[in-house]
Amino acid sequence: MNEILEKTVLTPVTKKIVVNAPYVARKAQPGQFIILRVRENGERIPLTIADYDREKGTITLVFQEVGLTTRLLGRLEVNDSILDLVGPLGVPAELPEKGTVVAVGGGVGVAPILPKCKEMHKRGVKVISIIGARSKDLLILEEEMSACSDELHICTDDGSRGFHGFVSDKLKELIENGVQMDEVIAVGPIPMMRATCEVTRPYKIKTWVSMNPIMVDGTGMCGACRVTVGGETKFCCVDGPMFDGHLIDWQEAWRRVNMYRDEEKVANERCPNCGGVR
Ligand code: FES
Repeated sequence: MNEILEKTVLTPVTKKIVVNAPYVARKAQPGQFIILRVRENGERIPLTIADYDREKGTITLVFQEVGLTTRLLGRLEVNDSILDLVGPLGVPAELPEKGTVVAVGGGVGVAPILPKCKEMHKRGVKVISIIGARSKDLLILEEEMSACSDELHICTDDGSRGFHGFVSDKLKELIENGVQMDEVIAVGPIPMMRATCEVTRPYKIKTWVSMNPIMVDGTGMCGACRVTVGGETKFCCVDGPMFDGHLIDWQEAWRRVNMYRDEEKVANERCPNCGGVR
């Protein structure tokens, strides 16, 4: 169990792995995540299930190597096993049955948005996707997103591919050009989701965001993922990860994202087994 069956390098810092996890695959739904550990005494990290195949009993994970554990995970190869993996966790995304949805994915946030687009596309919802990255080398899952979108817009911050600007700028352009949409789903870094919400707020377009970036243990025990939604405290891992973005206290969420920067730096420097991992 938990063997890596396929591994693809998507960008210099992003990898996709297909993992043998039949129990998770059997129940997984869009919006849910798993928790894994790569080594004994290692930290537990949450990763969104980017895809699942109930028949083959596999799940797909896409991750960016930003910290020690994701770097160690990135060193595992086909036939290696992940030490342990539990899920599916979190509340499945509430997806519409009809209408038009704009799916906005930034950076590695394109991975969590993919299963939602697939499901909506299957239901007959019109899916307009906007995916972006800092530059063209960091764009991921373009083909997969194209297959489940009625329209796909590509953006890069540096203009090296597609629209020159942020995904939220592209969304603004679509709205200003009169494109009708019933709701927006945005997944990516906190500043990107926040900017997307600020674009849709004046138009009162319902906007869902995924607060995965602030999760730590993912089981409701550590309390690190507290987020204020409409003045109420919610736990992202138990009550989410999807929330109405117009109700989120973004300043608090941003403080939370930066809370463990120093510890992450120390872990990277002190790890006895990660020499040379970059
Ligand atoms: S991530 Fe620890 S309580 Fe939610």
